[in-house]
Amino acid sequence: MAENYLDIKNLNVEINGKEILKDVSIRVKSGEIHALMGPNGTGKSTLAHSVMGNPKYKIKGGEIILNGKKMNDLQIHERAREGIFLAFQEPVSVQGLRFINYLRTAYTSLHPQEKLEYKKFLDEVKELLNFFGLDNSFIDRGLNDGLSGGEKKRMEALQMLILKPKFIILDEIDSGLDVDALRIVSKAIQKAKENGAGIIIITHYQRILDYIKPDFVHVLIDGKIAESGNGELAKIIEERGYEYYKGEINAKIE
Ligand SMILES: Nc1ncnc2c1ncn2[C@@H]1O[C@H](COP(=O)(O)OP(=O)(O)OP(=O)(O)O)[C@@H](O)[C@H]1O
Ligand SMILES: [Mg+2]
Repeated sequence: MAENYLDIKNLNVEINGKEILKDVSIRVKSGEIHALMGPNGTGKSTLAHSVMGNPKYKIKGGEIILNGKKMNDLQIHERAREGIFLAFQEPVSVQGLRFINYLRTAYTSLHPQEKLEYKKFLDEVKELLNFFGLDNSFIDRGLNDGLSGGEKKRMEALQMLILKPKFIILDEIDSGLDVDALRIVSKAIQKAKENGAGIIIITHYQRILDYIKPDFVHVLIDGKIAESGNGELAKIIEERGYEYYKGEINAKIE
């Protein structure tokens, strides 16, 4: 895969008139893993949805640029076609939409120049289901329909590998996973990185980062990047907690 970059530049985002993200900048390149950490309600999912183009999230300032092309005015499906993939914190279910049909449509939309060989595609899906510890019946089920929390997360990780997007945002892919699944999903993320994807992992725990070494860590507090650093920062956060940053911000106000 050619070198790609996703530039989130001075992003300001509002939901229902409330300012949530304040001047957030993150630049992700092919093969990099960025961890975005921070306490509940600080704007992590807001950032994910804003980059993906959910119209509920109003961009008041700043830019989202993929390989020099501005994404701000593109709709969700157009951004997906440009190569941005979001694994949701709470994956949506669509009853009656067969998983394999959904996946095939998504793949052809992302890679229109390729002629999809269905048999090969299906074999690859089966192989990955096996890798994620899921049986072949998942192929025919409705998209996420009736799946357990952990099964949904594994299916999101499977999509990430099959669809081969340029950039992947994983919103708490680690929540609700048992230890074995956490290890498998971590391996999948590593694989996506080796395939050349740029990845943002959103989490508030160090746990998944015991398996995956992020190249960069960003701490989001009250909608602002309070600190950015290398992989070591995740461990420091685990020790000192997010309260440390609240103190910093309060100290600045006083
Ligand atoms: N549709 C909405 N309407 C009003 N407020 C919203 C809406 N969606 C999100 N918010 C608010 O925006 C803020 C940021 O929410 P967000 O979901 O981005 O947090 P988060 O960092 O992902 O938290 P968590 O770790 O709990 O997932 C919260 O205060 C939340 O209540
Ligand atoms: Mg969230």
